[in-house]
Amino acid sequence: MNRYDGVVISHERITGDVALVRVQAPDLPGWQPGDHADLELESGLVRQYSLCGTPDETGIWTFAVLLRPDGTGGSRHVHDKLTVGDRVRVAGPKAMFPLEEAEHHLLVAGGIGVTPILTMAERLAAQGRPFSLVYVGRGRERMPFLDRVAALGDAAVIVDRAQSTDFTLKTVLDQAPAGALVYACGPPRMIDELGELVTGGRLRTESFASASSSPVADTAGGAFEVQFGFDGPVRQVPADTPMLDVLLKAGADIMWSCREGNCASCETPLLEGEADHRDDILTPDEKAAQNCVFPCVSRAVSGRLVLDLPAPSEG
Ligand code: FES
Repeated sequence: MNRYDGVVISHERITGDVALVRVQAPDLPGWQPGDHADLELESGLVRQYSLCGTPDETGIWTFAVLLRPDGTGGSRHVHDKLTVGDRVRVAGPKAMFPLEEAEHHLLVAGGIGVTPILTMAERLAAQGRPFSLVYVGRGRERMPFLDRVAALGDAAVIVDRAQSTDFTLKTVLDQAPAGALVYACGPPRMIDELGELVTGGRLRTESFASASSSPVADTAGGAFEVQFGFDGPVRQVPADTPMLDVLLKAGADIMWSCREGNCASCETPLLEGEADHRDDILTPDEKAAQNCVFPCVSRAVSGRLVLDLPAPSEG
């Protein structure tokens, strides 16, 4: 995953608890609807967000960040400390929620979950492909991007649950064309309800784990070695110590966020050796290919893993 040094070119509150942050860097690549990117706020503090800009933005990535007062500090940092002109590092994009082909897409967004859903809707609209969007929130003043959703026309419905007390997801599904592929991003309760209502493998949901709800990853295992490139220094990874901790302590320049093997921030190319993959990101085929490893959770089957990392200055 590529990283870029950027600068914050705008920072504005678009609702009472959502900040829109735009980061510019000359070499930022384009992205696809549903892609995520990492935003490194300060050393060791990395958070992952859906990209939610518009297609006309070249060299700019846009993040919408919901303030989570009970979170782990990332959103508070974005809201209260980050400001125009700050230098930040970003990484990505990551295709965590790809838009598949379908005869009809039913897009369901709840709250800040509108960020990836909106970019999908705008892409489908631009391509003239059939879709419908339902954007649910509680209080229009708390719902970001109402203007962009409204610009989608009749395909989009905005539901303020403070007013529409008779709204149900079942009704939304009943009114969609049979066989519609359903994309949903929103609070866990909404996703769970859709999981019970949508049949036939037609539901796609954002796999964006929250630090507070994820189970603690199993990183335990025997000792092994990691090497920085074929000619670089070797470090011992003690039993029951995460490989990521050893690499960071050695001075490796690795971004990380979830430490659960589900955000892909710490992806590191694997040059040699067989990893014991414990992430929830790679497919079985990708794990078998042994091309990369997520050191926050994964360990080694072979005695040594050679990683495509430059030797740290301390090494
Ligand atoms: S830090 Fe998230 S996958 Fe490693």
